[in-house]
Order: sequence, then C-alpha cells, then structure tokens
Amino acid sequence: MSKGLLGIEDLTRVEIEAILQRAKDFQPLQNQSNKRLDLLRGRMLVNLFFEASTRTRTSFEIAAKRLGADAVSITASGSSVAKGESLVDTLNTLAAMKPDAIVMRHAASGAPHFLARYLPTPIVNAGDGTHEHPTQALLDALTILDHHSTLEGLRVAIIGDIVHSRVARSNMYLFSKFGAEVVLCGPAPLLPPAMVQLAPGMTLTHNMTEAIRGADVIMMLRVQLERQNESPFPASEYYPFYGLRLEHLKLAKPSVLVMHPGPINRGREIASDVADSRQSVILNQVENGIAVRMAVLERIMN
Ligand code: NCD
Repeated sequence: MSKGLLGIEDLTRVEIEAILQRAKDFQPLQNQSNKRLDLLRGRMLVNLFFEASTRTRTSFEIAAKRLGADAVSITASGSSVAKGESLVDTLNTLAAMKPDAIVMRHAASGAPHFLARYLPTPIVNAGDGTHEHPTQALLDALTILDHHSTLEGLRVAIIGDIVHSRVARSNMYLFSKFGAEVVLCGPAPLLPPAMVQLAPGMTLTHNMTEAIRGADVIMMLRVQLERQNESPFPASEYYPFYGLRLEHLKLAKPSVLVMHPGPINRGREIASDVADSRQSVILNQVENGIAVRMAVLERIMN
C-alpha cells in the first residue's frame, strides 16, 4: 500500500486481507465501556469534506479518537470554487497544520490523487466523484465476512445507479480480487455495458429478478441525482422496476444479506420493510465502518 489509501484498485488481496484482519481485532471495542486505545496518541487527523456526509465523516472522526489521535473536521460542502485553485489553497492551509493524515471527500474524481502528489501527508480517499470509495468497500467486505468465511464464490447483486457510484466501483474491484460472482443491475442509462469491463468476474442485466435469483448478497444503491445533469428517467418509473421489495427476497438465498451504503431513500430504491428486515445488515455496515477505519488509520498514521 502506498503512503495513503486512494483506491481498492491499487491494493493487493493480501493488503486487503491484512486490513480486514486488523479491523476484526477492533470490532469487539464497540461493546466495551472503554472504547479507547492509545495506539495513535499525539497524532492528528484532518477530515476535509467537500461533499455531504454523515456516516463516513463521523466514523473517521470516531476511529481516530478511539485510537487516541486528535481529529479535526473541515466541511466545505457547497463550495463552487474552481477545482484546481481551491484545492491548491486548501492544500497550503492544511499543510500548515501539520496533520499526520488527511481524509478527503470531493465531487471531482481524482481530487485526492491530485492532493497526494503535492502533499507529503498520507491521503485517505473518502469518496472522489464517481470513482472510488475504498473504505466503504472494506467495511462492506467486513460485514459480509461476519456471515461468510470467504467472499470467494459468493453471488453478489449490485443494483441501482451503478454509473455514478464510487461505492459500486470500489466494491467491483474488491469482489473481483476475491473471486466473487458479481451481477450488475440497473436501468440502461445508469448501467452502460462498458461497466462490466472494469474488473474480471462481472456480468450485467437490466432485469432485477434475474439479478436477485440465488444471490448471497444484494447491495442496493441510491440514485445519485446530484451527479446527473438531467434526470435520465421519470423518478416514478424507477421504484417499480428497480426498487427492492419483500417479494424479491424470496428469489435470493434464504440467508441473503441486504446491504446499502446509505443514505437510504425509503420507497425510492428500497422498501421500508426490507430496510428494516432481519436480512438487512445496513446498520452493521455503519458499525463496521468504525473498525475498518481504525485499521486503515492505524496502518497509515503509524
Ligand atoms: C455513499 C457515498 O457518499 O458515496 N455514501 C456513503 O459514503 N456511505 C453513497 C451515496 O451517497 O449514495
């Protein structure tokens, strides 16, 4: 792994396994009254978020604090300053604070890579445009591994707005490295055929029933309207064809895990009773986000 964490594409299977293994060590902390370790005492993390976030920003902050580091969050959402100039200015400001790592989310694909070239500080990508969201894929893998001994051979259906989803891309890279069987499913405007070429082991269907049949994991995605200049189809058309409802779950394996990176839009891409069903591990994903981010921060800030 380079000095930071920019994407799953750059990681080897062995590096991913090491992070997940370490995250498993941190999982039991959640249920202890003293949740704090002092492995990163005296270090400082800066969270720099140019896009909205609830789960990711909070869990990076909690992860840093649990490791004994200080964490500062800067939110620049809504900033409309041109990318290059604002990033260089921000870079100089942050460098002056001498952080030990910077976690960054930005609407432009490649923005953290740009920063990483200029700064000696390790950068963790917390989502760059439609490109990657590596810690999300790691926490998704950890959540699946809470229920399965291996990812190899699992049938995973990723359903929704694939083309705009950095979560889908990072997961595609990860599942491919571990030999899972991935079916991508969504309406044609949100799922161009070229997506299957991103990584080996991907297939594509526009039919939800076909995607879900025999699935071990169903990963739902939000329709990312903020990344669409014009709506590719009427919103009312989406749910009947691509919204996950209880009747769909009967087609999957009885042990199917329903996942969603959040934020969920109930009644848009997922029915409320499915999100709250016993198959849903959506809140386990959130919980595992802390353990995974602790493992990542320990690795790069030490
Ligand atoms: C995702 C993101 O920001 O890419 N959310 C998250 O980090 N859990 C998915 C989304 O916004 O739909």
